[in-house]
Amino acid sequence: MRCNRERTFLLVGVMGFLVFYLSKDFMDHKNIHLNIDVRGDDIKIRQHTPNHSYVYSWPRCERNVSAANITGFSSLSGEIKDFLYYRHCKHFPMLLDLPDKCGGVDKSAEVFLLLVIKSSPVNYERREVLRKTWAKERLHNGVWVRRIFISGTMDTGFEKERLNKLLELEQREYSDILQWDFNERFYNLTLKQVLFLQWMERNCPNVRFLLNGDDDVFANTNNMVVYLQGLENNDGGKHLFTGHLIQNVGPIRYPSSKYFIPVQVQESNSYPPYCGGGGFLLSGFTASVIYNMSQSITLLPIDDVYMGMCLAKAGLSPSSHMGVKTAGLYIPSSKLDGYDPCYYKEVLLVHRFLPAHLYLMWNRVNNPNLKCNTQLKV
Ligand SMILES: *[C@@H]1O[C@H](CO)[C@@H](O)[C@H](O)[C@H]1NC(C)=O
Ligand SMILES: *[C@@H]1O[C@H](CO)[C@@H](O)[C@H](O)[C@H]1NC(C)=O
Ligand SMILES: *[C@@H]1O[C@H](CO)[C@@H](O)[C@H](O)[C@H]1NC(C)=O
Ligand SMILES: *[C@@H]1O[C@H](CO)[C@@H](O)[C@H](O)[C@H]1NC(C)=O
Ligand SMILES: *[C@@H]1O[C@H](CO)[C@@H](O)[C@H](O)[C@H]1NC(C)=O
Repeated sequence: MRCNRERTFLLVGVMGFLVFYLSKDFMDHKNIHLNIDVRGDDIKIRQHTPNHSYVYSWPRCERNVSAANITGFSSLSGEIKDFLYYRHCKHFPMLLDLPDKCGGVDKSAEVFLLLVIKSSPVNYERREVLRKTWAKERLHNGVWVRRIFISGTMDTGFEKERLNKLLELEQREYSDILQWDFNERFYNLTLKQVLFLQWMERNCPNVRFLLNGDDDVFANTNNMVVYLQGLENNDGGKHLFTGHLIQNVGPIRYPSSKYFIPVQVQESNSYPPYCGGGGFLLSGFTASVIYNMSQSITLLPIDDVYMGMCLAKAGLSPSSHMGVKTAGLYIPSSKLDGYDPCYYKEVLLVHRFLPAHLYLMWNRVNNPNLKCNTQLKV
C-alpha cells in the first residue's frame, strides 16, 4: 500500500516534469513561428534557422590506416599514433548545441564580446566560478558579453556517461556549453578550436570580438570591453589578433615534453608567430579568416601554434598586448603579496588561477572602494 502510494507519487512527479518540458519545447517552437510571421521574410528566415540535421548527422570518421606507413611510425607513442590516424577528421557530431546563443545570424552582431572558454568535462568547479565572475553574461558599458564553454568527451563507459550527464545538467541550467563527441585529449585541442570556428561560422558569424582562452585564467573582461571599444576599428570588421606574442620558436623534439612534436607530425623546425593559448583576443573578421584557412591546413596538435599558421597563410600577423600575461605575473619581490588586487586591476589576463583565488580576486578588483597606490601597477 505504502509502496503503491510512493509509486503514484513518483509517476505524478515524472508526468509533471514531462508536461513542463513538453510545454517549454512547444513555447520555443511557437516563438520561432512568431518571428517568421512578424518579419514576413520566410525564405531568409528559413535560411537562418539552425540546421540540426547538419549538426548531428556526421558519420563516424574512420582512421587513416596508411598513417602507419609513415617512416618511424612504430616508434611513436600511442597518443601521437592516434593523432596521425585521426588527423584528417574535422567533423564530429554535437552532443550539446546552442544554436540561439547569439540570437541568430543577424542578431549576432549585437554580441560585442563572446567568451569562448576551453573546458574539460571534469572542470565543473572552474566553470561554476567563471559563471559568477569574469565570464558572467552581462551588459557592460552598453555592450553585450556572452559566454560559451567548449568541450569534448572524456573517459569511457560509465565515467564518460556520468560526465556527459553532468554537462547536460549544466546546460539545462545555464545554456552555455558546446560539446562534440570526440575524445578530449591534449593533442585534440586544435580539433576543438576548429570545431568551434565551424560552429561560429554557422551560428554567430557577426560577433564583434572574441576572447579565446582556458578555464583557469583570470580575465579582466571589463577591461577587455573598454580596450576593444577604444580601438579605431571597434566593430570587429578588421583584423585583430592579440595576446602574449611568441616568436622565433619551433617544435620541441624531446619526447618527454608535453609539447613534443616529432618530425612525423611536423617536419619544419620553426613555428610562425602566435599568441599563447591561455587567452587571446580576436575580431570576428579574423576568426572567419582563420576558419577559412583551416580548411586547407593540416591539423597540428598545438592549438595556439595552429592559429598562428592560419594567420600566416592569410598574410596576417598576431600582435602583442602588454596586458596579457599567460606566463603569470611578475611580482618584484617575494615579500609582496602576489595576490594583491592592485596588480590585477589594470591587466587583461593572467594565467593561472585556482577557482577560490579567482572568485576572491574578481570581487576585490571590482570593489569600488579598492584603493591602489599607482606604483603597484604592472
Ligand atoms: C542540413 O544539412 C545537411 C547536411 O549538410 C543537408 O543535407 C540538408 O539539406 C540541410 N537541411 C536544410 C534544411 O538546409
Ligand atoms: C600503406 O599500408 C597499407 C596497409 O598496411 C598498404 O596496403 C598500402 O599499400 C600502403 N600505402 C603506401 C602508400 O605505402
Ligand atoms: C593518410 O595518411 C597518409 C600518410 O601520412 C597521407 O599521405 C594521406 O594523405 C592521409 N589521408 C587522408 C585522407 O588524410
Ligand atoms: C581525438 O578524438 C578522436 C575522436 O574521439 C579520437 O579517435 C582520437 O583518438 C583523439 N585523438 C587523440 C590524439 O587522442
Ligand atoms: C571566408 O570564406 C567565405 C566562403 O569562401 C567567404 O564568403 C568569406 O568572405 C571569407 N571570410 C573572410 C573573412 O575572408
